[in-house]
Amino acid sequence: MPTAIVTGASSGIGFEVARLLHLKGYKLVLASRSLERLKQLLRELGEGSGIAVKTDVSRYGDLRQLVERAVETYGEIDVLVNNAGVGLYGPFHEVRPVDIEYVVKVNLVAPMLLSRLVAEHMIERGDGCIVNVSSLAAFTPVPWFAVYGAAKAGLKSFTDTLRLELKRYGVRVIGVYPGYIKTNFFKNMIRTRTASSMEVNVLPSGPELSPRDVAARIVDAIVSGKNGDVYVGILNRLAKEAAVHMPKLSTMFISYFYTRGLRRAGLIKP
Ligand SMILES: NC(=O)c1ccc[n+]([C@@H]2O[C@H](COP(=O)([O-])OP(=O)(O)OC[C@H]3O[C@@H](n4cnc5c(N)ncnc54)[C@H](OP(=O)(O)O)[C@@H]3O)[C@@H](O)[C@H]2O)c1
Repeated sequence: MPTAIVTGASSGIGFEVARLLHLKGYKLVLASRSLERLKQLLRELGEGSGIAVKTDVSRYGDLRQLVERAVETYGEIDVLVNNAGVGLYGPFHEVRPVDIEYVVKVNLVAPMLLSRLVAEHMIERGDGCIVNVSSLAAFTPVPWFAVYGAAKAGLKSFTDTLRLELKRYGVRVIGVYPGYIKTNFFKNMIRTRTASSMEVNVLPSGPELSPRDVAARIVDAIVSGKNGDVYVGILNRLAKEAAVHMPKLSTMFISYFYTRGLRRAGLIKP
């Protein structure tokens, strides 16, 4: 049976990816800080469905231990889903330095380190698949998400480059670029003081898709042999095309809504 490591499997997109990979016959190695939630998921899926490894992806020692446990238990790693992520929301000049480091570690450094830890196994076998869950924010500036957006843009660059490097060894690299997805992501975001004091976001949110929709597309890409990018929903696809092909227009659009949001929140004069 093939084996998949899924980070951030305790909630949202990662939780649904784990369930769908199980249905496709994968043994699961689930990682997050909430060990009990991972164990609960494995109990629901049934005995022998996989193992749970308490992991803080911002710590290299935890990542090494995660891969060691996966190899010890199942011998091989067929799929790595780098899904764990955290937002950092608010005016950049209020952001705490310690949060900058943490958010870049979780969203960018951890996927790099985990990819490094599994790549040699995959290259030796001439097979494997690495999935990096980035964001539409990788394509366009999003005010109040400067650090998160930069980390996700870095993850996009890493994903595109790794795909070129690993293709010749039979290892696939899939980039995933969700827009607004109905998960705990917005509740779990680290917020600066101004962002904490506000009840609404300064930017309008787009249509929210379900984590199940995103997970289904990710798992389809894994099992169908895709070696490319995944976008979910026609509006997200349009937003990405606009950001790539009409960046000035796309930025003007965001700037307009940002200024309007600040005004409505009473943060700038009408
Ligand atoms: N929701 C959206 O609108 C949206 C849009 C674009 C991209 N994304 C990306 O999609 C991915 C999944 O997010 P989601 O929407 O499913 O959010 P979520 O429901 O908040 O899930 C985030 C997951 O990441 C894990 N995580 C966070 N920090 C971690 C750490 N230091 N170590 C280990 N695990 C950690 C959490 O587990 P524990 O708390 O148990 O550790 C949780 O399982 C993220 O990479 C996010 O950036 C989400």
